Order: sequence, then C-alpha cells, then structure tokens
Amino acid sequence: MDHFQYKNGTLHAEDVAIPDIAAAVGTPFYVYSTATLTRHYNLFTEALSPLPHLVCFAIKSLSNVAVLKTLGNLGAGMDVVSGGEYLRAKAAGVPGDRIVFSGVGKTREEMRLALTGGIRQFNVESEPELRALSEVATSLGVTAPITIRVNPDVDARTHEKIATGKKENKFGIPIARASEVYAEAARLPGLQVIGIDVHIGSQLTELEPFEQAYLKVADLTRRLRSEGHTITRLDLGGGLGIPYTRTNDAPPLPTDYGALIKRTVGDLGCEVEIEPGRLISGNAGILVSKVIYVKNGEGRDFLILDAAMNDLVRPSMYGAHHDIVPVAEPPVAAPTQEFDVVGPVCETGDTFAKGRDLPLVAEGDLVAFRSAGAYGAVMASEYNTRPLIPEVLVNGDHFAVIRARPSFDEILNRDTIPAWL
Ligand code: LLP
Repeated sequence: MDHFQYKNGTLHAEDVAIPDIAAAVGTPFYVYSTATLTRHYNLFTEALSPLPHLVCFAIKSLSNVAVLKTLGNLGAGMDVVSGGEYLRAKAAGVPGDRIVFSGVGKTREEMRLALTGGIRQFNVESEPELRALSEVATSLGVTAPITIRVNPDVDARTHEKIATGKKENKFGIPIARASEVYAEAARLPGLQVIGIDVHIGSQLTELEPFEQAYLKVADLTRRLRSEGHTITRLDLGGGLGIPYTRTNDAPPLPTDYGALIKRTVGDLGCEVEIEPGRLISGNAGILVSKVIYVKNGEGRDFLILDAAMNDLVRPSMYGAHHDIVPVAEPPVAAPTQEFDVVGPVCETGDTFAKGRDLPLVAEGDLVAFRSAGAYGAVMASEYNTRPLIPEVLVNGDHFAVIRARPSFDEILNRDTIPAWL
C-alpha cells in the first residue's frame, strides 16, 4: 500500500494533486510521501518487537536529508556506506550511536570521520580493513565497536548485479574462515568485537535465502561464543523486496520477515539490527514526467518523455520494470496502445519500457513511474547535461521542495577553465 492514489480523476501524493507540484517545480521531478515512509518504517519496528532491535535505514536507497530526518525523528538508525552518507545522517540530526558503517572499501579518512563523530559500529568486510581500523582507532586513542560481515554463500535468487551473498561476490569474509578472522580481531588493539553482520542481496522476493543465511549466523554465534567472543549484536542486512507491479505475486511482508528473524536468531539474546532500504523508500516515491512527443515509428510507437535514463537508470541498468501510469486517471475500460517509452538521451539504452500497453496519452500529458523512491534520485547523473531533477516531499496536504533543480549557471560554474586556456 502506498499513498499515491487517484482522487477525483487525478493522481495524488497523499492529499496533494501531482499537477499542482508539476506547476510549481516543472517536470521531471521525484516526489516522496511522508506517510508511506513512516508506515514502512513502523512495519519493521512492529515486526521485530519485542526483540531489542534497531531498524537502520539504508541511506544509499534514498539519501535526501529531509527524508533521513523524517525517519530519524521516528527513531530510525542509519546504515551508511561512505563518509558522505555519514555526513548526511549527521546533518539529519541522527546521533552517531544510531549510525552503522557498512561497505567493502572504507578509507582511513572515513574511519576517522566516523570515530570522531560517533558511530554505533563498523561492519568490517576484510582482514586488511580490520588492520586499518585498528590502526586508525589506536592513533585516535579510541575503541571501534565492530561486527564482521560474513559471506554465507547463499543464493539470494535476485538480479546478479545486486546479489552479494555468494562466495564469488566481493563482500564479507567467507563464513568458513570466521573463527580465524574473529581471533585476529580480538587480538588487534583498538577494536571491540560485538557481533556479526550479514547481507545477502537486494530485492529478494522469497524468505528462504534469508532463512538459510540467518541459520548460518545463529550457528556461527554459538561457535564464536564457545571460542570466547562476546556476541551481543546481529546485523542482518537489508534486501527485502517490494512489488514493482500491481499484478505480480507480492513479496513477503515485513511481518513474515520479522517472524523469520525471531524464529532463526531470536533465542540468542542478541540485539538485532536490520538495514532495509528499498522496502522503506521504494514505494514511497514516484517520478513524474511529461510527454514531449508521441512519435509513430515503423511498427512501433514511441512515447518520448522529458525524463531519461540519467534520472532513473534502473530500467537501463538492470532491465528493471517500473509501472508507468498517466497522472490523469484513465476512464474504466479506456482504450490502450503499445508504446516504447523512452527518454531524450542519445542512446538506445535510454528506454524505460518496450511494448508497454498504456492508456492513450498525448503530448503535454503527465505520467508517473511508480516505485521509484529507492535507487532513483540517488543514482541520477547529469549525463547529456541534464540537470539533476528536483525532489519534493509531501506531508498530508502540503509539500516542500527538498532539493531544487540546479540552474544551468550553477552547472556550468562547476567547471573551471585552466590558466593555459
Ligand atoms: N545493507 C547493505 C550492506 C547493502 O549493500 C544494501 C544494498 C542494503 C543494506 C539495502 O538493501 P535494500 O533493502 O534496499 O534491498 N541499485 C540497486 C540496488 C543496490 C543495492 C545495494 N545494496 C537497484 O536499483 O535495484
């Protein structure tokens, strides 16, 4: 369920009509719903209760500071993977003790930043990283709380580019080597081992891979404890998938996921963390675009939009499906037509959908890409010198621009001409 519904024949974000936002900010733009963000965060905390837990929003999925503040005010923790994301969490007012630092390539500067600003834990992904963190923490005279990310060699059964839990992936340490690596971590100065981390992939549509991974983590917890380590926290990663179509079988619900967590690791007396991104932000956002032309080609018709692959790269990059709907509600049983939906960027890969059956739309009409809140704006670029598009946050019957469209002057002024020119 999300809060982008037709009311009186027009698509709304909560109680705001989409054309009103378009009139104020121009197209294309992203718009997010406070009510959906809140609802999804609450679903997770309810699903994990009464276990001691922290839901750490994966900032990488949607990193606007206003969104982070919305979630942070509800008590959410944050999962960050760069110094920049760390600074975003802090800018949103989230205290360091609710920020976890993930990622396979943390630099010493990023470690220093988090250790001085406050951090709940680092999820360490390799032995060289353990040693680097030990050095940095020691040089600062502090102790870094850590978990070690284990790679459980589980097939997440998702798109190959976003599966992370197989042994051939770059993430974590092989679970078979955990005893050795934990022993080294315990010996190194400046580190305090507190738990285990696992994340097997994104857009998982079944619970079974999670179950396999979490059972392995439960076994490992017992083993590491018997080897003398104190394991009090389990970070179980993110990855729960969302429905991208109205017709597909719905992926498991957070309640089922929470029940699975309780069943697999609930008896270990550990505090549990999860790092959902997409399930909180995905269906909390849409991308609104305008039809520039309807072009009749040979054997196919093109809907040429003012949004392009640089604004929403998921279809080009992963062959991902996003439902596309007209902002003006089509009458029941209105005729439809097959379109290739494309953007203006100069490559064939700039295609959002092929042969998509859509209600008839015309030049100047608004359309919306659903489920575009996660990995939408954050993956945008200015390819073809197309300005990053605005982000808007709706709350009930009002809205605010939470990132403005840059002017061409701003864009051009970022380039500098060397003295010899
Ligand atoms: N934790 C870690 C360590 C991660 O690497 C990720 C996602 C998450 C949590 C959050 O996963 P989520 O709950 O959002 O599935 N750009 C791709 C998705 C990349 C996911 C990367 N890691 C896409 O558009 O589908």
